[in-house]
Amino acid sequence: MEPARRGGRGAMLPLLGALLLALAAGVSAWPHDGAVGHGAVGFASGAGGERRYRDLAQRRMESVRSSFGATRRDLATASAGARVYHVTDYGADPTGAADATDAINKAIADAFRAPSNATMTGGIPDLGGAEVHLDGGTYLVKAPLTLPASGGGNFRIHGGSLRASDDFPTDRYLIELSAKGSSRSYDYEYATLRDLMLDCNYRGGGVSLVNSLRVGIDNLYVVHFNSDGVAVSGGHETMIRNSFLGQHMTAGSDPGERRFTGTGIRLDGNDNSVTDVVIFSAATGIMVTRPANSISGVHCYNKATGFGGMGIYFKSPGLTQAWISNCYMDYTSIVAEDPVLLHVSGSFFLGDANVVLKAVNGVARGVQVVGNIFSGRDKGVDIVQLDGKFATVDQVYVQQNSATGMAVKSTAARGSAEGNGSSWTVDFADVLLFPDRIGHVQYSLVAGNEFPGHTLRNVSGNQVVVATDKAVSATVHVLVDQNTN
Ligand SMILES: *[C@@H]1O[C@H](CO)[C@@H](O)[C@H](O)[C@H]1NC(C)=O
Ligand SMILES: *[C@@H]1O[C@H](CO)[C@@H](O)[C@H](O)[C@H]1NC(C)=O
Ligand SMILES: *[C@@H]1O[C@H](CO)[C@@H](O)[C@H](O)[C@H]1NC(C)=O
Repeated sequence: MEPARRGGRGAMLPLLGALLLALAAGVSAWPHDGAVGHGAVGFASGAGGERRYRDLAQRRMESVRSSFGATRRDLATASAGARVYHVTDYGADPTGAADATDAINKAIADAFRAPSNATMTGGIPDLGGAEVHLDGGTYLVKAPLTLPASGGGNFRIHGGSLRASDDFPTDRYLIELSAKGSSRSYDYEYATLRDLMLDCNYRGGGVSLVNSLRVGIDNLYVVHFNSDGVAVSGGHETMIRNSFLGQHMTAGSDPGERRFTGTGIRLDGNDNSVTDVVIFSAATGIMVTRPANSISGVHCYNKATGFGGMGIYFKSPGLTQAWISNCYMDYTSIVAEDPVLLHVSGSFFLGDANVVLKAVNGVARGVQVVGNIFSGRDKGVDIVQLDGKFATVDQVYVQQNSATGMAVKSTAARGSAEGNGSSWTVDFADVLLFPDRIGHVQYSLVAGNEFPGHTLRNVSGNQVVVATDKAVSATVHVLVDQNTN
């Protein structure tokens, strides 16, 4: 059902003409008001100005038409070819009382009628910027909002709230971009889900994206999910940004925190980015199972590590390829299984939150945990912690992090020992990350006027032993690095 096709227009036309005349007279004075704030030139020529003009026109029209009992649809048809599909025009109840699933799915289906033969990547139909508008309402849905399996690109769904009904299927998501049985590599492209509040009602999840390309998840508030807030599977280049996700509506210190379950964001695909997102309740903040994803500006306080929670979990042993920057790990940690190419920098870890390297096959290669700050509670928690044994350690740099109330661990360190005798031991066991691994040593022996023969005797157990051929009073300065290169 397309808005333009709905009947009743003929009878309305004379009335409409009269309304438009009234409208034209009404708005003529408005540019003056607009010019005060926005600048007359900008208003007259800019697209934003036109939009404001139309918004105002529409508001005025609505106030006039309401007394005539005209529907919005009748007037919306005046702008031929518009591709904004208002779900209320399809009978969706914006009060959230009656189920709106079918109505919204019809609006989506109409939006998916491509206006031209233009296509996008791999033949995905170009929907020309079609919008499904939720009209600022709250809608009850008993089943997922689904997109036609024919695929589509260049469209958006925005501007309202969805709430799962009490019988919503627990294994589904409120909005699903998924074309089952499709033979294309990608089914949806340049889709934007924006300005939406999704209340999963502890039934399923918020958004599921399957084999989608270049999807923007922007300014969403996803709550009460049982499974995941946003789940990405396959596809490429989902940008999840400026959003808030939580299983429970809480602002921290929730008495039920130990019982939080679910995952804020699941990335089972490559080349996605998560930026400026808060995950305020869930067992796992972000779960990543595929490489080449970036995470930046994320604040995780989903479930404290002390309660069994996890902030960001990289579960792709041997193929991490992930970079985290500018994040705020708030009582909840980053865990990476066999990290291979992992970068963590410029982030703040609060409340003993740390980075845990978890051995699966015992490989850590190309890991940089550098330039972060940590704040703990004097319980001796390591800023970077090993879970299991790593046999292969290569290019692992845990350096230049600062901490208060936690134990700083590093892959490079310096120290000195002063004494009178023929053997000096500098013990790095407390500070070096990997046990019994010193790949490189440099030392200097300062012995006043003495000139003894000296040598490096032993580096076992992360302890550096330097010996002289005679007893002298000396200081030994040592630099060690756990990497061999
Ligand atoms: C789309 O392609 C069909 C088949 O080639 C053609 O009949 C139709 O006119 C085209 N439509 C547009 C809008 O170009
Ligand atoms: C170092 O020890 C030797 C002999 O044990 C002693 O003669 C010498 O005075 C000591 N030097 C210092 C600086 O303590
Ligand atoms: C180095 O020290 C360890 C531990 O004290 C010891 O077992 C080992 O034999 C020493 N190696 C050498 C070459 O002295």
